[in-house]
Amino acid sequence: MAPPPLSMEPTGWFQVAWSPEITVGAVHKMKYFGREMVAWRSASGRVSVFDAYCEHLGAHLGYGGHVEGENLVCPFHGWEWNADGRNVCVPYEKHPNKGRRIRSYPTVERNAAVWIWYDVERREPYFDVPDIFADFSDGKTADDYYPPIPAATLYRPGLELHPQYVMENGVDFAHFKFVHKTPFMPEFTRHDFGGPVSYVDFTIAFEEGATLESATSGVESINAGLGVSVTRSWGMIDNRTMPAVTPVDETTSDVRFTVWIGRKPGEEDTPGITKYGEVMAGFVIEQFEADIHIWSHQRYSDPPALSRKEFAGFRALRQWATQFYPESEELVTVPRSELDRLRAAAALGSA
Ligand code: FES
Ligand SMILES: [Fe+2]
Repeated sequence: MAPPPLSMEPTGWFQVAWSPEITVGAVHKMKYFGREMVAWRSASGRVSVFDAYCEHLGAHLGYGGHVEGENLVCPFHGWEWNADGRNVCVPYEKHPNKGRRIRSYPTVERNAAVWIWYDVERREPYFDVPDIFADFSDGKTADDYYPPIPAATLYRPGLELHPQYVMENGVDFAHFKFVHKTPFMPEFTRHDFGGPVSYVDFTIAFEEGATLESATSGVESINAGLGVSVTRSWGMIDNRTMPAVTPVDETTSDVRFTVWIGRKPGEEDTPGITKYGEVMAGFVIEQFEADIHIWSHQRYSDPPALSRKEFAGFRALRQWATQFYPESEELVTVPRSELDRLRAAAALGSA
């Protein structure tokens, strides 16, 4: 793959772990956005993510740092830092160093995952990580699904791909037939790129012989920035998925994929995932792996050679994506009216 000509520091929420990986008291080392970081969970259960280096003399807190109550203690001279990264104790002085603060990232736990907000301008979060249950408002909760971690997940670290590639799936109707072997090309029923959270719904089926006209199944997705999507299927094996792509450095990203499979009758109360759940999750993961196989060797094409039917969708998606890049103000934007005209033209097949 050639490195994408897109910033690897987009603004948004990015998955850095699954929740169960960060146990109480653990100090977990990781690298994202070209920075060494640590994630740690306090005694009360709060997860914090910091830049890894102590503001005193620069020890890496992931090598010997430990959690005491609500604070992270540096292994070098015992300075203590609270969940916001503020110094609260210098063990050999009467007062803490109130002026020093380790960079801490806004952090949320949702959908069994840990997310950090990354923004080069350090603005506060201005959108949320979607809730894979509440935000589809169909009344289902996590209890209706097998717990996905770890059996129904895929973790592929250090791939040469960009988060935007995954989002482009949401307008790329033609790839389904070739990569996912669907019997027909899915049709998009909703494309809403109006804000930082976008909505993409489509009709899709996997059974042989199904046609667009006869299909009674589909997928709805909510995409918040470039780092997180949640999807819900209807009319097929009851599944929800959560692809998440997090830049590690200028050329690579970690990919995580989590699959919730609806419990089958008789398995409402099993504590973990069952064989059935694992097999079904395996089918879903296989489809996602087929995408990864393409993405991880792809060269970002700009401008791409699009067919008439593809033009409006890709144009809208790529225009939407620019808002997350640090240099976005410098880009020429297409007025809303022009986008609408392109969409209408594409719907008529004449763009
Ligand atoms: S380097 Fe962390 S306490 Fe000294
Ligand atoms: Fe795909």
